[in-house]
Amino acid sequence: MEPRYDTIGLNYADLRKPDHRIAAAIERELGTARTVLNIGAGAGSYEPTGREVTAVEPSIEMIRKRSASAAPVVQASAEDLPFEDNSFDAAMAVLTIHHWPDKQAGLCEVRRVTRGRIVILTFDPSERPWLTDYLPQLAALDETQMPAMSDYVRWLGPVRVEPLLVPHDCSDGFLYAYWQRPEAYLDPHVRSGSSSFWLLEGLNDELEKLSGDIQSGAWERSYGYLRDQDTYDAGYRLVISD
Ligand SMILES: C[S@@+](CC[C@H](N)C(=O)[O-])C[C@H]1O[C@@H](n2cnc3c(N)ncnc32)[C@H](O)[C@@H]1O
Repeated sequence: MEPRYDTIGLNYADLRKPDHRIAAAIERELGTARTVLNIGAGAGSYEPTGREVTAVEPSIEMIRKRSASAAPVVQASAEDLPFEDNSFDAAMAVLTIHHWPDKQAGLCEVRRVTRGRIVILTFDPSERPWLTDYLPQLAALDETQMPAMSDYVRWLGPVRVEPLLVPHDCSDGFLYAYWQRPEAYLDPHVRSGSSSFWLLEGLNDELEKLSGDIQSGAWERSYGYLRDQDTYDAGYRLVISD
């Protein structure tokens, strides 16, 4: 079942505030592009300023969350983009590709309408951030939903893959953003910001185990070294196609 952003979007503005360090990393990769297509744009997170941005977003709930000053948005899906060939200098797709029903067709469309670079922020499903030790269901879901890094090569040709390290105080509450704040995962409101938690049910035993380990100090003994880190490689990747 595909999570519906018309539902998930309800808490989005509150929980998914764009993080300025991640924004800077995306902006760097966009280089000198003047016209940028943002696919799966949602409420407009990470849309660069000072460029001509066009947003594409299928969910009306997410479109309604866009501010009046946000880039113009077209209600459409990646798989069927209503633009001429080579319309944009660059394209970006941030934490969205795992939702596309036909990822290959979507990327083929993105390539068709983009003259230059495509910048994709996604997750490498072969990675296992610590949360999956408690919730192995997440790893299974990642493997089902997320394209493997080798898929991008098949679909787009040669790509560059760069780790996107997650800051310890990341303001964007995506799935593994709370790597240094384990107690956050015990809060249903925090969990509601991630589509993965909408897909998984009956996690009570696993979350109780996490809660118990935080209280007993077992979490600290296993993962306390993370408290000394400013960033963590949780498995997020920038995939760049020129
Ligand atoms: C996790 S949100 C990310 C939104 C935004 N890029 C951000 O970083 O906040 C995923 C978005 O992908 C959109 N989406 C789902 N299926 C899509 C498709 N087939 N084509 C384009 N976007 C899609 C959802 O509606 C949702 O807004």
